[in-house]
Amino acid sequence: MHIIRPSDLSDDQLDHLLREAEHWLEHNRGADKRVDRLAGRSIVLAFFENSTRTLLSFDMAAQRLGAMVTTLPAGQSSLAKGETLIDTALTIDAMQVDALVMRHPEPGAPDTVAETIRAAVVNAGDGTGEHPTQGLLDVATIHHHFGRVDGLKVAICGDIRHSRVASSTHALLERLGADVTLAGPAALMPEGHDGADGIDDAVAGADVVMMLRIQRERLAADLGDAPGEYLARYGLTEKRFATAAPGAVIMHPGPMNRGVEILGELADSEHSLITAQVEMGVAMRMAVLDLAINEPAAVTS
Ligand code: CP
Repeated sequence: MHIIRPSDLSDDQLDHLLREAEHWLEHNRGADKRVDRLAGRSIVLAFFENSTRTLLSFDMAAQRLGAMVTTLPAGQSSLAKGETLIDTALTIDAMQVDALVMRHPEPGAPDTVAETIRAAVVNAGDGTGEHPTQGLLDVATIHHHFGRVDGLKVAICGDIRHSRVASSTHALLERLGADVTLAGPAALMPEGHDGADGIDDAVAGADVVMMLRIQRERLAADLGDAPGEYLARYGLTEKRFATAAPGAVIMHPGPMNRGVEILGELADSEHSLITAQVEMGVAMRMAVLDLAINEPAAVTS
C-alpha cells in the first residue's frame, strides 16, 4: 500500500503502527538488530531534497528488517539530463522493487508517482505537503512517554505555514484526541489562521511543546529578524517553558536551529524528547515499511 499522508491509514492500521513501533523500539536496543520480516524484498530510497534523520532511519529500518536497500544518488541521477520524475520512477519500478521511499520538494509529487508505478510509495516528505512518518514517530514518542495521547495539550510553534511536519503531526495528534494549538509569527502562519503570534498562550499549560525551524529555503523573502530577536519573540526560552504544565516535554523534528526557535540548553535538557524522537524514527519506519510491503497481512487489529 502507498503511505503518502496520515489519512491513508485506517484506525486499525494506525493502532497497529503504534504497537509495532513499540515492539521495534525494544528490539533495536538489543545486540542483534536484524530480522527476516522483509527478507528478499528490494527497497529504493530516492531523496531529491536534503535529509539526515529520515534518509538514515529508512535505510536502517529496511536493513534491520532484512531487505535489500538501494539509495539513488539524486544529485547524480539522470534527472540532471532532463529525465522526468515519472520516467525516473518508472525506471526504478521496472527493476522490480517492492517499495520506493521518496522525498521531493514538490507537494503532491508522491501522489503522481503512486498513480504510475506498481511498487508501494512511501512519502518521506513532499515540499510543504506532508511528512507522514514524522507525524507517526511524533505521536508514538508522545504515547511512549505519557502512555496516552488523548487529552494532552500540545503546542506546535514556529514556521507552521511551510511545515509538512505541522500538517502530518497535527492531523495525527487530533485524530488521537490531543488538544493542539498552533502558534508562530504572522508571516509563518497558514492563510487566515487566527493563532498568529500566540506563542505565550500556546505554551502556557502545554504538556508537549513542539518547536519547528524557520524553513528559510521555502521563504520568498527574508524575515529581517536580527540575531536573537526571533528567539526572544517566538522561540522557546527558559521563561516561556516555565509556564508549561508540570512534567511538560520539549520536542523538535529536527534539524534544529539552536538559538533561533529553541534555546540550545532546553534542547539538551532532561525535558527534551528530541533524541527519543530520532530513536523512535527507526522503529516507526520499520513498522511503516512492513505495513507498506506486507499489507494487509501485517495488520492484526
Ligand atoms: N525531521 C526530518 O525530516 O529531518 P531530516 O530532514 O534530517 O530528514
